[in-house]
Amino acid sequence: MGIKLGLVGLGSFGSQFAKLFKAHPLVDKIALCDCEAEKVKKFLNDPFMAGKVSEKDCYESLDELCKSDVDAVVVITQPWLHAPQCLQVLNAGKHVYSAVPLITLPDPDEVIDWGVKIAEAVKRTGRQYMLGETTIYRPQTMICRRLAAQGKFGEFVYAEGEYTHDVDNPCNLREVNKTRTTGKVGEQFAALIAPYLSRGLKTTPMGYPTHSISGPIHVMQTRAVSVSAIGMPNTNHDPFFKWYDFTDVTALFKLANGAALRICEFREIGTESIDLLNAETFRIFGKNGSFTRNRFLENDRSIPGKKVTWNHQDFTDAEMRDELPPEVLEQFKKVYNPNATPDDDFQPHGHGGSHPYLVHNFVKMVAENGPSPIPIGEALHFMAMGIAANKSARRDGEVVKVEQFD
Ligand SMILES: NC(=O)c1ccc[n+]([C@@H]2O[C@H](COP(=O)([O-])OP(=O)(O)OC[C@H]3O[C@@H](n4cnc5c(N)ncnc54)[C@H](O)[C@@H]3O)[C@@H](O)[C@H]2O)c1
Repeated sequence: MGIKLGLVGLGSFGSQFAKLFKAHPLVDKIALCDCEAEKVKKFLNDPFMAGKVSEKDCYESLDELCKSDVDAVVVITQPWLHAPQCLQVLNAGKHVYSAVPLITLPDPDEVIDWGVKIAEAVKRTGRQYMLGETTIYRPQTMICRRLAAQGKFGEFVYAEGEYTHDVDNPCNLREVNKTRTTGKVGEQFAALIAPYLSRGLKTTPMGYPTHSISGPIHVMQTRAVSVSAIGMPNTNHDPFFKWYDFTDVTALFKLANGAALRICEFREIGTESIDLLNAETFRIFGKNGSFTRNRFLENDRSIPGKKVTWNHQDFTDAEMRDELPPEVLEQFKKVYNPNATPDDDFQPHGHGGSHPYLVHNFVKMVAENGPSPIPIGEALHFMAMGIAANKSARRDGEVVKVEQFD
């Protein structure tokens, strides 16, 4: 017997996941939820969804969805809503998937409080929380995770990660913001943010740092202990940045494994479109191996002074990706090409092809009642790193400790 899933938030991003969840062979039924009924109807009436979605499983509020018999809920709503909604789902006795990040709010203490509340709810309810971070299922992260598990890097020395998304990039942040702050839920944002602004609280791109930080931290399975950061403010009075004290932040973290990690979060920057590898990526260097772009370079040094040989390997995206069970892969192919045959290659889409892997790993976690592949402790740590970097940047690079949580 398969599982029953609910999906709340069928906006621009949630729409990219509905068919993948429907296609997964371990999903028997999907309940759809958006407070804008036409967004639900679009999927209810889509022939691809037939057999797993019905009118009685369509909802206009998360409250109703939480009262239903679903085993788990996927939350892909506006980023300032994630944490309270995830907590509501856990308290209803269901597993939960959260779009990134944990939550965006200009008050760092509140961000941490939400993370702690969710961690307590996971413990209390025995239900799991998974953060849906796309970078963690990019092909580069998958291969590095496998290489690290085999000890191929040796001792880690240094890593660098960046997310460079200019405000006027083709995936235009002015437009994204407009969509998220209009409509039934979005239009409540102005009232929600006003008290923070009146307290003089501002943000920086480190308030949403998961795409740059998560790859290296997840691969090295370590934690950041302290940071020194530098911020660049906006200087041309761009109204988009009126709530930002910095539009570009560069941070150097000291890690618990002894290595250094340089992170850039840039929103006002002359660089290319976001899905190109050099705009959302990382590099990792160890004493025996290093990964840059799609190349792994390694030496076989073991005894000092003994002749060392060097090898390099260039990987294709397909080689870097983890394997999916064949029955899952066949169904996912049909999402992208309804006429796909078993001989056709699988070409996953969305943020480096990460979307089907996020879907599979969440469904597997729920079906097997297994541990979360990206648990709340990791989600909270990413936020604590961004918060510490902001504090340091506001103090002109002073070294700041990263708050730790078990
Ligand atoms: N690479 C990535 O991981 C990545 C990329 C894009 C977006 N995202 C995340 O995905 C999330 C969604 O982004 P988007 O662009 O789709 O936003 P969006 O505004 O287009 O969609 C959000 C939807 O959620 C619905 N909603 C909110 N609260 C609800 C409730 N209580 N009940 C029913 N419906 C509710 C809204 O009506 C809206 O349709 C964001 O938080 C963003 O951070 C992540």
